Amino acid sequence: MWSVNIFVLALIVFAGVMGQFNTGSNYYNQRQQKYSSPVAAQSSVNCPQPNGTFPTRTCDGYIECINGVAEEKVCADGLLFNAAAAPHAFPCQYPIDVDCTGREQTQEPQPTEECPHQYGYYKIGDQNNCGQFKNCVDGRGFVFDCPEGLAWNSETYRCDWPDQVSDCNAEAYLGFTCPPDARQYGFGQEEYRYFRSPTDCQRYYVCIEGKPRLYNCGEGRAFNDILSVCDGAENVTGCALPIQEAPANLAKFSNQNAYNRFNKF
Ligand SMILES: *[C@@H]1O[C@H](CO)[C@@H](O)[C@H](O)[C@H]1NC(C)=O
Ligand SMILES: *[C@@H]1O[C@H](CO)[C@@H](O)[C@H](O)[C@H]1NC(C)=O
Repeated sequence: MWSVNIFVLALIVFAGVMGQFNTGSNYYNQRQQKYSSPVAAQSSVNCPQPNGTFPTRTCDGYIECINGVAEEKVCADGLLFNAAAAPHAFPCQYPIDVDCTGREQTQEPQPTEECPHQYGYYKIGDQNNCGQFKNCVDGRGFVFDCPEGLAWNSETYRCDWPDQVSDCNAEAYLGFTCPPDARQYGFGQEEYRYFRSPTDCQRYYVCIEGKPRLYNCGEGRAFNDILSVCDGAENVTGCALPIQEAPANLAKFSNQNAYNRFNKF
């Protein structure tokens, strides 16, 4: 008998709660009507605020509200909705800038022959060829070269020193292996070591923690490996001859200038 009574009691309490809940929710809907169109109300999309963009349960979907009228939108394939975007910025942004925690799902990818998604930046090549990347726009892939000696870093969307890029083999890409350093250093004390390129007076490598970085002294100049500085080519023994062509896969401008210029974007 007790169990039945408890059951009935529970039912009454439950009905009461539901009644209250309905009342509350009707009130809420009425209030929301001000900020949402009839269509939006039918599709049960409400605007938390009259103007703005708001996240949904997917990472590339969002709700755009203009004067309280809600519209469900989806970012172009490859872009994601950034709930933290600045108020008047376009909210669909590249994945490295967007936190999808709790809303990981996205639309089906729409790959093309050139691109894995309609939009985005993608690495090209393997760990021995790290200097190119592709910018996909509306499914079309535009190939770019990093400045000489730099490698595409998919984690930062920048051209970076190859030793800083996890999926790049700096030695293979630059064609230079740092000779072992016989001297003993404490932790974090290793000095930079400089080596003129074995094939090209104009270029030199700096070895940092055993990994090479490629630098370029510029036209008419040569790396003076006695002084460890860039010098006039005529001042460096064996380097006064015409400067050799850069390897085909390397661009021809000074990489430090290009590094600064490129990474402003
Ligand atoms: C919402 O945006 C519209 C048009 O941009 C503007 O006229 C209106 O004042 C805005 N409303 C609020 C509450 O900011
Ligand atoms: C070559 O060396 C001389 C003497 O050290 C110096 O005065 C001159 O500026 C150097 N040339 C270049 C192009 O740096």
